[in-house]
Amino acid sequence: MSSERRRYILETKDLTKAFGGLVAVNHVNIKVERNKMTMLMGPNGAGKTTFVNVCTGVLKPDEGEVIFDGRDITGWPPHDVYKAGFVRTFQVPEPFLKLTVLDNVLVAIGNKGENPFRGAIKWLWIREEKENIEKAFKILDAVGLADLWDRQAFTLGAGQLKMLEIARALATGAKLIALDEPIGGTDPAYANDILSYVKGLLKIWDVSFLLIEHRIDIALPFADYVYVMDRGKVIAEGLPDEVANNPKVIEIYIGE
Ligand SMILES: Nc1ncnc2c1ncn2[C@@H]1O[C@H](COP(=O)(O)OP(=O)(O)OP(=O)(O)O)[C@@H](O)[C@H]1O
Ligand SMILES: [Mg+2]
Repeated sequence: MSSERRRYILETKDLTKAFGGLVAVNHVNIKVERNKMTMLMGPNGAGKTTFVNVCTGVLKPDEGEVIFDGRDITGWPPHDVYKAGFVRTFQVPEPFLKLTVLDNVLVAIGNKGENPFRGAIKWLWIREEKENIEKAFKILDAVGLADLWDRQAFTLGAGQLKMLEIARALATGAKLIALDEPIGGTDPAYANDILSYVKGLLKIWDVSFLLIEHRIDIALPFADYVYVMDRGKVIAEGLPDEVANNPKVIEIYIGE
């Protein structure tokens, strides 16, 4: 892997997707650095969700490339992108509200490496269960839910449920998690809590985030790097401060 590919978990090159005459994603070049929070912002209809859909195989691009974790995944079907470790939270099935927090994570870890003799050889089965429980607790620790392991999911608060969703994404082996408006419709204090948790996770877990948001006031301070889209194109990129002071960005947001 080249050093460029080692540094970035995701890189798109001239990614383009049109719906009839409308070019929703127009030659977009975005890089998501490993173990960082990269934010993709822009007003309604800018093309943010379409960009993620094209990256994750939900839509086929008309042009361009998607390089994920050093591999060209352009046009891969969604399930293969997911298995490769590029996960959007809403792809992970909804938590089972009646199951405990721990069981929810165990279900997401699943029975990978299913072995036909597994049922017959009891010690193998017990060892695998033990490893999965250890892994689940490590994940729950990372998202701050370990103390609530035996609570049924429906008793959690909205912010805790969001963290459980992220825990379940981690349990599937996600290396990059796309969060499409994770704080949508929430009040600012609560949105801050979620984003600080997510940010804290980057210090202790080998994962990266692509945060899609249009509420810049709340989300911008948490970003390590920011891209701004408008009408299908990237019109600005840089550190949060640079972007916040960019006249083109100010114009879009004032004009909204
Ligand atoms: N399946 C589709 N068919 C036709 N047009 C579409 C389709 N999906 C999106 N569009 C159009 O593409 C443009 C980009 O939409 P998109 O949903 O990607 O924007 P967005 O930045 O995610 O906006 P929002 O902040 O509202 O979520 C919009 O003009 C939208 O109407
Ligand atoms: Mg959207």
